[in-house]
Amino acid sequence: MSMKHLVSIADLTREDSDRVIARAEDLKAAFRREGASHQLKGKSLAMIFHKPSLRTRVSFEVGMTQLGGAALYITDREIGMDTREAVEDIARVLSGYADGVVIRTFHQVFVERLAEFASIPVINALTDLSHPCQILADLLTIKENGRSLDDLAIAYIGDGNNCANSFINAAALYKIDLRIAHPAGFPPDTATMERATGAGATVTLTNDPVAAVTGTDVVYTDVWTSMGQEDEREDRLKRFEGFQVNPTLMSHAKGDALFMHCLPAHRGEEVDAAVIDGPNSVVFQEAENRLHLQKGLLDVLMRG
Ligand code: CP
Ligand code: NVA
Repeated sequence: MSMKHLVSIADLTREDSDRVIARAEDLKAAFRREGASHQLKGKSLAMIFHKPSLRTRVSFEVGMTQLGGAALYITDREIGMDTREAVEDIARVLSGYADGVVIRTFHQVFVERLAEFASIPVINALTDLSHPCQILADLLTIKENGRSLDDLAIAYIGDGNNCANSFINAAALYKIDLRIAHPAGFPPDTATMERATGAGATVTLTNDPVAAVTGTDVVYTDVWTSMGQEDEREDRLKRFEGFQVNPTLMSHAKGDALFMHCLPAHRGEEVDAAVIDGPNSVVFQEAENRLHLQKGLLDVLMRG
């Protein structure tokens, strides 16, 4: 059965993921050739955001426009999820109006409950636990840079956060040798690790960034303080010392290793400016690919 929602990469088969990436490649090439298209004409995407966003909001909104449909931006001030109205009722009401729902929120369970009760596709646009759209777009970027998704060593340096967890899920679909270097006390989600390694993922956890990076094709990092953790920022700055991706750390990766970051980035914290603004960085291609990947995803979910 083909995919109905994108709640987590853990729910996808390899075929689902390949199909979304291939559709994104086709739509990207078609847009470059012919500009906007009409396959989602008349369709509406309801987008619920409980956290800020630049890339995710704009790329979904522009993506719907480029495919001939429309998107609505909704904050919790309007709908009061589980305070003004139960998630299950919101799911059923939106299913009567829209053709898809995007949600960025804190708790993964909100996305799961929406997906259970909606009769339209539900897309996870980031939770505290996962960020599947980001990591699928990152696989597209890695592929575009000539790397095989089945012969790939990736070092993820820093916080065991939503992006790290979604990479772990992706490592169960592709033959990725994933090494995650995190400071003590900031590992990725244990249940995500157990499920993915049980499904065949190769994931190594370490507290040693050099060991993680040595010989890898991709070096990836993300902010040390995610949205919602702002009170922990000062403490985290100390605890993450030594986990910055800088030219010395990059020198342990392959010479042509890609540097990736989901953005927003903080130069001088998790990444040195010489790396993110250097020749191996693909961060803006990566950001643009959010648009193309999500167009592929919307097309697959709304049209099949
Ligand atoms: N990478 C990403 O999701 O960016 P935004 O938070 O700006 O959407
Ligand atoms: N880990 C970051 C990713 C932002 C795209 C956060 O959750 O804030």
